[in-house]
Amino acid sequence: MADNKNNPHEVSDTGHEWDGIRELENPPPRWWTISLYLSGLLVLVYFILYPSIPLVTGSTKGLLGWTQIKEYHRGLEEIQAVRAPFEERLAEMTAQEILDDDEMRNYVIASTRVLYGDNCAACHGVGGQPVPGSGYPILNNDDWLYGGTIDKIVETLAKGRAGMMPAHANLLTEEETDKLVKFVIDASNGEATEAGWKLYNEKGCFACHGADAKGNQMLGAPNLTDRIWRFSGEPDEVRRTIMHGVNDANDPRTRIAIMPGWNERLAVKLEAEEFGDDPEDYYDGTETERLTETEIKKLAVYVHQFGGGQ
Ligand code: HEC
Ligand code: HEC
Repeated sequence: MADNKNNPHEVSDTGHEWDGIRELENPPPRWWTISLYLSGLLVLVYFILYPSIPLVTGSTKGLLGWTQIKEYHRGLEEIQAVRAPFEERLAEMTAQEILDDDEMRNYVIASTRVLYGDNCAACHGVGGQPVPGSGYPILNNDDWLYGGTIDKIVETLAKGRAGMMPAHANLLTEEETDKLVKFVIDASNGEATEAGWKLYNEKGCFACHGADAKGNQMLGAPNLTDRIWRFSGEPDEVRRTIMHGVNDANDPRTRIAIMPGWNERLAVKLEAEEFGDDPEDYYDGTETERLTETEIKKLAVYVHQFGGGQ
């Protein structure tokens, strides 16, 4: 006789019935029963090996001694082990050498994003593109206040920068101010008039912005003949810069534009090297290092590859 246990008409039921559906009495399939007991066993094994029963402070420890923080530290150690040989080589290389070495450059670009995000992005924006109107310079174009070579960028980061333009409110008549505002806007469009250039020179603007108004990287004076604005090309904003200057301590309405320095010790070292002197003779022991020299090199390479590096 055929086995009829899967035929609902041949199997006895519990007597329960809902809308013609009967509750049968046959046992669940074997695979199902086995999985049920196995999962119970698994819970028991976990229970013994890992932290499980919550107590008043903490929980039972488990035989393996596993904790989340240990797992985290192990992960961190693995990352550091991968990075260590690169970091050691970085310490020995100049920023220029890093830039010229494909492997090291790629490592730096991949591993410096967080460092940049933590220290620089608040002012300069992600990818070197600050919020428009925030007054922070764009780092991903090739218009540089202080120079876009890798060495200049290292110097900027180590020392910090604060360009100074004196307030001219007391040095210019209303009419002269109007004319200079117009000159600056015309110059950015390549349309400056002869009279405009004359006034520009008479009022001494050339001393910092240059005879051709293309700027001076020694002073951080921007190029006035391009369409890239350090602050803004709106007439009222140009007027404000001319009248109240930048970082002029004597004018309460001056623009503030300060790039913090990140490593005084490196700044002193660069200065000594410029004069061919031994940096040890220059240090006085009080120099701070908010970022290490290696971190500065990494950030300089990172900024250089935004696209504007020279
Ligand atoms: C508190 C805001 C602030 C922070 C943080 C900051 N900067 Fe700056 N940075 C400035 C300002 C303002 C200037 C322009 C200074 C000036 O106008 O003289 C500047 C200038 C620069 C320049 C020179 C640009 C040029 O055209 O020559 C570079 C490069 C630079 N910053 C990179 C960085 C990097 C990398 C970091 C992170 C370590 C950083 N900055 C952190 C505000 C900041
Ligand atoms: C002592 C040097 C100095 C003199 C003199 C000077 N400037 Fe400047 N000027 C600067 C510096 C430095 C900056 C940029 C500051 C910064 O970014 O931190 C600047 C910025 C500007 C800007 C802002 C440009 C932009 O892209 O937003 C304008 C406009 C300007 N100067 C016009 C003038 C005019 C016009 C004169 C003459 C009346 C003049 N400057 C005289 C040093 C000078």
